Amino acid sequence: MGKLIAVLPGDGIGPEIVEQALRVLHKVEEAFETKFDYEEALIGGVAFDETGHPLPPETLSLCKRADAILFGAVGGPKWDQIQPPTLRPELGALLPLRKELGLFANLRPARLYPALAGSSALKSDLVGGGLDILVVRELIGGIYFGEPKGRTDNGTRAVDTCVYTQGEIERIARVGFEAARKRSKRLCSVDKANVLETSRLWREMVTRIGSEYPDVELTHILVDNCAMQLVRNPAQFDVIVTENLFGDILSDEASMLTGSLGMLPSASLGTGTFGLYEPIHGSAPDIAGQNKANPLATILSAAMMLRHSFAMEDAAKCVESAVEMALAKGARTADIASGGEEIVGTKVMGDIVIREMN
Ligand code: IPM
Ligand code: MG
Repeated sequence: MGKLIAVLPGDGIGPEIVEQALRVLHKVEEAFETKFDYEEALIGGVAFDETGHPLPPETLSLCKRADAILFGAVGGPKWDQIQPPTLRPELGALLPLRKELGLFANLRPARLYPALAGSSALKSDLVGGGLDILVVRELIGGIYFGEPKGRTDNGTRAVDTCVYTQGEIERIARVGFEAARKRSKRLCSVDKANVLETSRLWREMVTRIGSEYPDVELTHILVDNCAMQLVRNPAQFDVIVTENLFGDILSDEASMLTGSLGMLPSASLGTGTFGLYEPIHGSAPDIAGQNKANPLATILSAAMMLRHSFAMEDAAKCVESAVEMALAKGARTADIASGGEEIVGTKVMGDIVIREMN
């Protein structure tokens, strides 16, 4: 039996970009003489429309049986007003999926490909030397999940609670240190320790775990300063480890340094090799179904799957260098064009990457 991949295309551009990632995986099967099994399931708004729930039980049980999940995107204006909000695609599907599967570590590499230096939101003297930042985001704790949460006083008062335990901080800190060890041996921990109690516990724990990694240089930075430094001098960062909400915000910021949200993959991991792989961008309903979306973030997410879930480092590199070659040869979807280049659609971008895998 081959590895089982749960395929969850979701809403908006999800199906189009997942289709291209699947074509790339088929090419990997051929080139590396292996076979994967695929099972597709409903998630998000389309699942709500069809079954009344954005995360149907069959989808969750498929995910629990699978070795890895390839995820497109969920949500869109059509489902923004669903009541209660816990049935909306984001709150009712994506967050519970992460939580139920114990996917506490979210890896978001923000890499600027040399060919795209012109599309970075920053001036080329700041990014000319390239950029390669890894955001390690805690994914199933903090203010996203803390209780109590909700409205009181006849709806006139709202509460969200930020909670972290030592154990939750320790396990994500270890992911950060291990990642730093494999890269430049520098880890920057981001918190708001001047204000938040959870951040003081965060800093204390990260420092304590750091004593087990004497080869990694640990620094701490406040989140507001980090947001500023990312645009002032992004090259100073290598691995960043941070809590759920800060990681959400900083990873979107980091992505713009690299040119486009459409380029950035992610892996959400637990303790074993199982993982959920998704582009960090959303469902882009405005361009859905038009063959305009950039499939590269999803293709690069599939490469992360090959690396982390299937231990196929060579195949992962093959996909990543094919993406790099495609860009170097000038292939551009609309979101990464900086003017003058010929713009290709979603499918043709997939064709070009697959051709470069030869
Ligand atoms: C992300 C997204 C999600 C998050 C939303 C869609 C719930 O922004 O994956 O970064 O906040 O985690
Ligand atoms: Mg986000």
